[in-house]
Amino acid sequence: MKISLAKKKDLNGINDIYNYYISNTAYTFDISKRTIAEKKEWFNQFKNSETSICLVGYENKELVGFVCSTKFREKEAYNQSLETSVYITDEYKGRGFGKKLMLELIARLKSTNIKNLYALITYPNKSSINLHKTLNFTKVGTLKNVGYKFKKYWSVHIYELKL
Ligand SMILES: CC(C)(COP(=O)(O)OP(=O)(O)OC[C@H]1O[C@@H](n2cnc3c(N)ncnc32)[C@H](O)[C@@H]1OP(=O)(O)O)[C@@H](O)C(=O)NCCC(=O)NCCS
Repeated sequence: MKISLAKKKDLNGINDIYNYYISNTAYTFDISKRTIAEKKEWFNQFKNSETSICLVGYENKELVGFVCSTKFREKEAYNQSLETSVYITDEYKGRGFGKKLMLELIARLKSTNIKNLYALITYPNKSSINLHKTLNFTKVGTLKNVGYKFKKYWSVHIYELKL
């Protein structure tokens, strides 16, 4: 897989992958599909930032997934912490691409002032939990029944990696 910084030309593909998981799973708590205009707005957060990073992975010229680090929370004292998220197209899951993308993101963040990475994982999500455990993230808490989607409440497990 070839990994590079996401560019505007990748936004359609990123949005297609993300919208699939919005419509079919509770792994993201977005409920309505994102438009390209919304995605362009979302993409602005990665401009001129050393720590908010979006990487894409291509296999045989096909976009197979993306990984992002974004602000954990807005307030300034959180600036040494980031949230990470990773999505692989359904047909390419389980082939090591999620792990490779996360490893590249972590490697890039290690040369910055970032100290903590957080992944918020809707329960259950075995592949994401295993991915994060294998990357040495540890579970630090649970937000019980914090989200409501598909007429059901979902808990979120918080996984942390100290850099
Ligand atoms: C979660 C996700 C990003 C993982 O990426 P992936 O490419 O499928 O996973 P990988 O092949 O890189 O596997 C990474 C590790 O997780 C384990 N794993 C992956 N899928 C698994 C599954 N279905 N069951 C058990 N373990 C699994 C692998 O064995 C591997 O562990 P190892 O390195 O010790 O062998 C991907 O499955 C995905 O996009 N899922 C849907 C969206 C999502 O849940 N995103 C995360 C939101 S928090």
